[in-house]
Amino acid sequence: MLNKLSLKIGLLFFLVILTVEIILFYILYTNLVDDRVEEVMRDLLARGNAHSDVLEENYTSSTIEHVAIMESESEFKVVVTDDVGEVITSSNPIEPELEAVVQHTDHDGIPEGGAILESDWSNEPYVSTDSPVTINENHVGHVFMFADSNNIKRIIDQLSQQFLFVGLLTVFLTIFTVFILSRVITRPLLKMKKATEQLSRGHHEVELYTHRKDELGELATSISRLSKDLERLKNERNEFLGSISHELRTPLTYMKGYMDIINRQDTTTESRKQYIKIIQEETTHLAGLIQNLFELAKIDYNEFAIKKEKIMLGDLIRTVVANIQPAINKRGIRFTVDYPDDLVAYVDPGRIRQVLLNILDNAMKYTNEGNSIVMTGSQDKDETVITISDTGEGIPEEDVPYIFERLYRAEKSRSRSSGGSGLGLAIAKEIVELHGGDITVETTQGEGTVFIISLPKGDANE
Ligand SMILES: Nc1ncnc2c1ncn2[C@@H]1O[C@H](COP(=O)(O)OP(=O)(O)OP(=O)(O)O)[C@@H](O)[C@H]1O
Ligand SMILES: [Mg+2]
Repeated sequence: MLNKLSLKIGLLFFLVILTVEIILFYILYTNLVDDRVEEVMRDLLARGNAHSDVLEENYTSSTIEHVAIMESESEFKVVVTDDVGEVITSSNPIEPELEAVVQHTDHDGIPEGGAILESDWSNEPYVSTDSPVTINENHVGHVFMFADSNNIKRIIDQLSQQFLFVGLLTVFLTIFTVFILSRVITRPLLKMKKATEQLSRGHHEVELYTHRKDELGELATSISRLSKDLERLKNERNEFLGSISHELRTPLTYMKGYMDIINRQDTTTESRKQYIKIIQEETTHLAGLIQNLFELAKIDYNEFAIKKEKIMLGDLIRTVVANIQPAINKRGIRFTVDYPDDLVAYVDPGRIRQVLLNILDNAMKYTNEGNSIVMTGSQDKDETVITISDTGEGIPEEDVPYIFERLYRAEKSRSRSSGGSGLGLAIAKEIVELHGGDITVETTQGEGTVFIISLPKGDANE
């Protein structure tokens, strides 16, 4: 059974081609018919003229008889009359139809070269010509030639039969071609339809023939790519959900354990206080984690508003430093900041503050006592660059490509103790990129890490 699209395409092709064929055939047919009839008429007149030429040479009764006898054997009929249309002789008995033509002719008006008297083969029984016998510029007689219209009809019938045969053959070939064509077009479409159905049913790995160079090939390529993207997204989502549930479960398990201990009769007030403090810390951590997840979700749904403005970046850096300096000092880490007074950027100050705090927080967390953190700012014509470097533990080479991914932590056990959940850099990267900027990292394990943040400066009038 033909599917709908190929039926539609097929029918459309078929109708268009059929119409064109009918028009062309009609023109060809009528031209051929006209040509054939004209040819018969020309022959008839030429034959009559030949007779009249002979008679002009030798206008005697024996020659006239001769003409009649000659035509009695042919498929034509001849009637020879005198100058006023009195029949002298004829090749066949004169039927009324022949008589009528002879009588109704204007005998003097016929030119010397003869004329066609009747060419309406479809209505009249005979087509006819008149060739006058002219001696000394006088019509002394007339040679009337007749051809049976049925002869012409036979010729036309043959022609029609041939046309019918060729026409049917063409229609058949057209149907065949259209059928093949519509299959060539709709087969790959059907396959792609099946593929997309599979996609929506959750079967994400579809195989499509993608080597065609035309639009159908491009469509197949897009669908294949879509299927791969979906597969990747599905995997990422599963991984993410796995990590998230792990992240949430771990602190909850801790808290439940500590609460069980607190509830035991034999727990001292001292221990109780200690465990309550741990529970508080874990709760803060969980709240932070959920807040971060919430921010990332907003970024994903494009609901994360960035309101860029031209700011003096120095002011921002000062508040950030004031914010984090006490914590850094407490850990016994040296902290120096260096930037030019006229440092500017075209950014959302609240968001960039969040980025700087995230990265400084990392530098502090992953750097031991006695080391140092340096923050610098610089600018050129188009961009402002902030670097934050530490002489901390660095990041293992194999982890570097992944540290900006969500929930990714290098050396997980270590970060766990530092309370990280692996979202800080992911958020920082999203924010910087939403600004049209870039964030990169250079690190050597055991020696330290440098984060380089480039931000847009904006046009002078922004
Ligand atoms: N300055 C750094 N020195 C060494 N390792 C770092 C540094 N900054 C980041 N890392 C590594 O990259 C990982 C990802 O950092 P990210 O800030 O995304 O997460 P986190 O600090 O563990 O948790 P969160 O920031 O969500 O509290 C960290 O777990 C850490 O292993
Ligand atoms: Mg962090």
